[in-house]
Amino acid sequence: MTAPLVLGIETSCDETGIGLVRGHELLADSVASSVAEHARFGGVVPEVASRAHLEAMIPAFERAVEKAGVTPRQIDAVAVTAGPGLQGALLVGVAAAKAYALALGKPFYGVNHLAAHIAVDQLEHGALPDEAVALLVSGGHSSLLLVHDVTANVTPLGATIDDAAGEAYDKVARVLGLPFPGGPPIDKAARDGDPEAIRFPRGKYHDGTLDFSFAGLKTAVARWVEARQAAGEPVPVSDVAASFQEAVVDVLTRKAVAACADNGVDDLIIGGGVAANSRLRALAAQRCEAKGIRLRIPRPGLCTDNGAMVAALGAEIVKRQVEPSWLDIPADSALPVTEVIVRSGEPVTT
Ligand code: KG4
Ligand code: ZN
Repeated sequence: MTAPLVLGIETSCDETGIGLVRGHELLADSVASSVAEHARFGGVVPEVASRAHLEAMIPAFERAVEKAGVTPRQIDAVAVTAGPGLQGALLVGVAAAKAYALALGKPFYGVNHLAAHIAVDQLEHGALPDEAVALLVSGGHSSLLLVHDVTANVTPLGATIDDAAGEAYDKVARVLGLPFPGGPPIDKAARDGDPEAIRFPRGKYHDGTLDFSFAGLKTAVARWVEARQAAGEPVPVSDVAASFQEAVVDVLTRKAVAACADNGVDDLIIGGGVAANSRLRALAAQRCEAKGIRLRIPRPGLCTDNGAMVAALGAEIVKRQVEPSWLDIPADSALPVTEVIVRSGEPVTT
């Protein structure tokens, strides 16, 4: 029997993502980004993102259906990011998903963006292990999670106490005069730089927790650059980028490996936009190999926000024959990582 065809819709930030997935098979992944519209502001402007989602939604859906070679009627279930993310942006996706589900007469699932960043790895590396640590690093989140079942059992182990890793990349890029979003240009500039040129602080490195802190690092980079500029000296952009990046990925990988050891877990999954980073991927591979940890990171295109990840999580939920969400569910900008499926708009007591 062929697995159900699941439509995934993602609009939590500035990417309008539509994915079509059958089991672990990716049939289509159509992403329309409004990033160029935000670039001159140095960050995502929520209202601009919401309007861009509205305009991109139907064309992105049509492209995905065409790419997958299916008709809308063949879709068996609709999954959408219900949170966390920008409230107005989420609302567009949630409303569209409800409309598609109603029009097609198919079940509707409001799901968690963070769990989707983990579930997407199934499209590339097959079924998730029974137990894994997940390092989730994006523009809005930096967390370590213990994952027993990505559809139902995700436990936080640690998180950033201030900036997210991606946020630090974006802010440091601005200081260095690099474009937004900062991750890709810093990744690129760092390739020509010396990661040991400047010893930037590694927040919470030795504190024994699984939490992160990147605000101090970001400030240290800004102060260092300002001091050079005040002295009338040129800023060695590649060296600053490489040294900053080394500080970020050193802490991320150290704590991810520690989380595996603390919990007796042999599998690490890394997801979220920052997981596209070439140095993070290389250092994680090196440190995991040294500790006998199996490492899974989706290809870069599946790390940044997309609809396929939502469809991948939806497919896993449908496979478990979980009851669908009610059509009254809200978009929840602060949805906790432990709530993988938003069931109904009624207050939930647990
Ligand atoms: O997961 P994502 O697409 O959106 C959120 O859920 O936030 O992550 C976006 C973040 C941005 O901060 C961006 O700068 C960062 O991911 N990013 C990277 C790279 N590509 C994207 N950070 C470091 N290196 C990259 N290659
Ligand atoms: Zn994301």
